Amino acid sequence: MASPTVLCPTRESEPRSSSNAPPVSDHANHSLLGDNASNPGPVLSIIIPTFNERDNINLVVDALSNALHDIDWEAIFVDDDSPDNTASVVRQIGLKHARVRCVHRIGRRGLSAACVEGMLTSSAPYLALMDGDLQHDPAVVRRMVEILDAGEAELVVGSRYINGDDCDGLSKTRHQLSRFAARLSRLVLSERLTDPMSNFFALRQELFHEVVRGLSKLSFKILLDILLTARRRVRVREIPYVLGIRKAGQSKFEAQVAWEYVMLLIDKVVGRYIPVRFVAFSAIGATGAGVHLATLAVAYRALGVDFVTSAVVATAVSIVFNYTLNNALTYRDRRRHGMKWLTGLCSFAIVCSIGAAANVGLAAYLFNQRADWLLAAVAGVLVGAVWNYSATSFYTWGRSS
Ligand code: GDD
Ligand code: MN
Repeated sequence: MASPTVLCPTRESEPRSSSNAPPVSDHANHSLLGDNASNPGPVLSIIIPTFNERDNINLVVDALSNALHDIDWEAIFVDDDSPDNTASVVRQIGLKHARVRCVHRIGRRGLSAACVEGMLTSSAPYLALMDGDLQHDPAVVRRMVEILDAGEAELVVGSRYINGDDCDGLSKTRHQLSRFAARLSRLVLSERLTDPMSNFFALRQELFHEVVRGLSKLSFKILLDILLTARRRVRVREIPYVLGIRKAGQSKFEAQVAWEYVMLLIDKVVGRYIPVRFVAFSAIGATGAGVHLATLAVAYRALGVDFVTSAVVATAVSIVFNYTLNNALTYRDRRRHGMKWLTGLCSFAIVCSIGAAANVGLAAYLFNQRADWLLAAVAGVLVGAVWNYSATSFYTWGRSS
């Protein structure tokens, strides 16, 4: 193994320029500030997405300081405006600790998007991703960076599955789901990985910038997103780690895991032709039609309510059903809460009524023009669906809520 170049003296001790090790990164070579640059930036940025992790921040920073004491690192916490004020805890620590920074995102949610935003703020040649609850061991980050720096890989993944199943920190269902998802991903992935679901990895900055514009950022599986976007075989190494037990707070991933994962895979397959949100919106719409018919059947046939009232009730139920699911799943990252949930429902209902009118109007027009009844109906449904999707994505979920 070539001698690592990141393990040079840190800012506190000797300046890095006096290191004898051959520089491998642009960072070490850059001459923008001339040779007298006395305070070069960090060589390693550790991106830590957080949502309600206030009690873990200090522990994470301490653990990183211990593990990386001779590396010039920085920690970039990317917080999605956690209600527990994680961001202000990070800023407090940042006041005393020059290596700690906070990217505070307002009005947005999403693990992958947060990670990407954090990585975009870094100028370091090496980037690492780590959870903010100490389930990932910072000592492993060090090993990852050594491998990158020795030029042995472009991407180093921490795997829970190299040494059997090192997953104390995962519930049984999550564990089975994780293994199943890993198998599924092997169908589309050219690299052989034991743990493509890992969110604990490090990569060269060049690789990140090569793929960043193509990333879906949909699910929380950013590693898979990066590998599938690269469209070439990436030089990957896996190293084992033991997934620890979360220190404080709760996991955010019990419910939506499977949905987001499927969305990511669909996006990678058809995303170039059809927006994946449209696929989700239409699937929910189709289910909503089933809910509409079922409600109508119950009201009209079983309860004996008159047909028009039954139809009105069924329409209202299916609108609330569609809105709720789209808000929770399709637009999970822009979810509306509280009063904004209600105003969103109103705008959704208005848009969809216009969509329904367009649907019926077009179908009736085509039918009158002697088009086949099925063709006329399908054309009406398609135009209605495209309208509903485009208009609600703008009016209901488009503005920051
Ligand atoms: N900024 C931001 N926005 N951070 C988030 C969000 C979000 O919407 N959701 C979760 N996080 C942060 C959490 O605060 C935590 O630091 C990290 O992302 C992981 O979230 P957990 O809730 O602890 O996830 P988990 O432990 O169930 O699963 C994690 O570990 C697995 C093993 O590596 C995830 O990272 C999985 O993707 C991973 O497979
Ligand atoms: Mn966790």
